[in-house]
Amino acid sequence: MNYSKKIKNWKFSKFLINKNFKFKRNYVLKYVPSIMLTDAYKTISNWKNYKVTPLLKLNRLKKNLKLNNIFYKDESKRFHLKSFKALGGAYAVEKISKGKKNITISSATAGNHGRSVAWGAQRLKLRCKIFVSQFVSETRVSEIKKFGAEVIRVKGNYEDSLKKCQKLSKKNDWKIVQDVSTKNYKYIPQLTMAGYSIMIKEISKQTNQFITHIFLQAGVGGLAAGVVSGVAKYFKRIPKIIIVEPDRADCVLQSIKGNKLKKIKIKKESIMGGMSCNEMSLVPWQVLKKTSNCCVSISDKNIAKTVAGLKDKKFSKTSIIGGECAAPGVIALIGICNSNKAKKLLNLNKNSNILVIGCEGNADVKLYKQLLSKGRK
Ligand SMILES: Cc1ncc(COP(=O)(O)O)c(C=O)c1O
Repeated sequence: MNYSKKIKNWKFSKFLINKNFKFKRNYVLKYVPSIMLTDAYKTISNWKNYKVTPLLKLNRLKKNLKLNNIFYKDESKRFHLKSFKALGGAYAVEKISKGKKNITISSATAGNHGRSVAWGAQRLKLRCKIFVSQFVSETRVSEIKKFGAEVIRVKGNYEDSLKKCQKLSKKNDWKIVQDVSTKNYKYIPQLTMAGYSIMIKEISKQTNQFITHIFLQAGVGGLAAGVVSGVAKYFKRIPKIIIVEPDRADCVLQSIKGNKLKKIKIKKESIMGGMSCNEMSLVPWQVLKKTSNCCVSISDKNIAKTVAGLKDKKFSKTSIIGGECAAPGVIALIGICNSNKAKKLLNLNKNSNILVIGCEGNADVKLYKQLLSKGRK
C-alpha cells in the first residue's frame, strides 16, 4: 500500500477547541517580556557556530492533504545538540552566571534540557551536575556526560530527580537551571522560553508567506509558549495555534478543558519521552490558556511510521532526520485533515500555510534506529 493511502486511516485521539481563546500580543509579552526575546536573539545569534536551522517544505504531504504549504522547522540541525532545547537551557546558564566562573550549575532532566544546560556550562567552563531519573536512557546520559557534566541517577521518576536536585543544590549553593516554572520560580524558565522564540525570529526571515496554522508539541508547554511569544513579537499576522500531546500525557488539553491548571496521572509512559509530562509549567499555562485555538492528542501508534516516512522522503523531496518528538506535529496535522469536522473548525484548506516544528533529530540514537526499523516494516 502506498503512503498516501496508508495515512488516510490516521486519526487523532482527542480534539478540543479552546473556548477561552483570545490572542493579545501585549498579554503574551507580559509573561515572556519582549526585551528578553530581543536579548535572547542577540546573544544566541552571536554564539560560535550559530546557524539558522533549515525551514524545509513537506511538499509531498502538502499535495496529499491539499494544503498550500507545509513548512517544517528542522531543529535536528540546532548546533550539534540535535534539538531546539539547545536554545533554552544553555542561554539561561549564560544569563544567570553573569560572567562568574566559580559557580556550579545544576538541573534535573528527562534528557534534552540537561544536555543543553551541560553544554551551556561547558561553553563557559562552569561545573555542572545533572540529575536524572531511573527512566532516562543510558544513551541520553552518555550524551550529557560528553559535555563534561557529572550525572547523578536518582531512583524514581522525574519529580524525584528534581527533589534531589533541589535538596543538594540548596545545601551546596549550586545554581539550579530548570525549564519548568512554578509560583516562585519564573525567571529562568522565562529565559529558556525566550531562547526558544528565536525559531520564530528566524522563520520570519526565511519565508514571506503568512503562516496560518502552527502545530506545537507540548510536554510542560515551554516550547509552545516560547514559540507563541515569538509569534506575538515577530509575526505580522497571528496564526492558529494547535497544541499536540501524547494521549497518555495530555495535561495541556485537560487544563484547557477545565480552564484550570490540572495535574494528570500518567498510567504508561509515551514513546514521545520529552512530552510525557503530567503537569504544565506555570508561565506556559498563563500564555497557552488564552493563545491556543485547539488541543489535539495522539497515540504512539504512528510515531515509528512517521519517523521512517520523514527519513524515506514520503512527505518531502529531501530526507529528514526527525525523532519521536518531531513526528507528532505531522501526525496531528494528518489526523485533523482526515476529519472533515476538525478541518472545517480550524479552517484548514488549499490556502493554508502550515508550520510544524521538527523539534529534535536522532537525539537518542539507539531509539531512533529502533523506530526507523519498526516504521519501515
Ligand atoms: C525533545 C523534546 N523534549 C521536550 C518537548 C516538550 O517541551 P516542553 O516540555 O517545553 O513542552 C519536546 C517537544 O514538545 C521535545 O521535542
